[in-house]
Amino acid sequence: MDNEPKTSEARQYWDNAAINFDAEPDHGLKNDAVRMAWRNRLMAWLPSTKASVLDLGCGTGSLSVLIAQLEHDVTGIDFSPVMIAHAQAKAAAHQLQIQFKIMDAAVPQFDQQFDVIVCRHLLWALASPKQVLKHWATLLTSIGRLILIEGYWHTGGGLHAQEIMAALPTCMHNHKLYELSSQSALWGGEVLDERYAIVSMHEKYIRQNK
Ligand SMILES: C[S@@+](CC[C@H](N)C(=O)[O-])C[C@H]1O[C@@H](n2cnc3c(N)ncnc32)[C@H](O)[C@@H]1O
Repeated sequence: MDNEPKTSEARQYWDNAAINFDAEPDHGLKNDAVRMAWRNRLMAWLPSTKASVLDLGCGTGSLSVLIAQLEHDVTGIDFSPVMIAHAQAKAAAHQLQIQFKIMDAAVPQFDQQFDVIVCRHLLWALASPKQVLKHWATLLTSIGRLILIEGYWHTGGGLHAQEIMAALPTCMHNHKLYELSSQSALWGGEVLDERYAIVSMHEKYIRQNK
């Protein structure tokens, strides 16, 4: 209950931010070169065969759309109804079937599991990343993987890659760290802060592929 005023303030903040969110090159992916850079990255991290993908804190749905265009089944969740409305409009404009739901990404409630969980720029803002990652791992199927795209920004906000590595639950293995700060094509220009992705496999996947 103590978190409720904080949550509703945060939701209000993101509802207000939704209208201009896509103005940033890496948010809206309106520039072909930026969009292709993300598409190539995602293709490398995602399974090569059709997978069910959960995009946590999907915002205006730019990554959800890109992943659906790679022919995966995508579900996107966000706690901001305005973000979700933008995401639905974007998917409809691209004639893509994506399930969008208004939901708290800290404790997503599903009666299905997913082959992939993608989360860009949200984990750092959640209250207990370690607890959250433990819960997310329970949502993964036997070919499950986490794709976490995060950063430690010049504003002083964020998480260092090593903090996330240390917070990953013991059921996750083979973590790979991808440094993204030097990849200016992803951001639409040079960036000087710490940006990275971590891809980690569920132990069920490791056992299966031994
Ligand atoms: C920086 S934006 C990133 C959006 C998207 N992942 C992207 O990279 O384009 C953070 C998003 O997380 C959402 N968010 C923040 N806290 C959340 C929570 N507890 N549950 C669900 N969504 C949340 C916000 O509404 C916002 O859309």
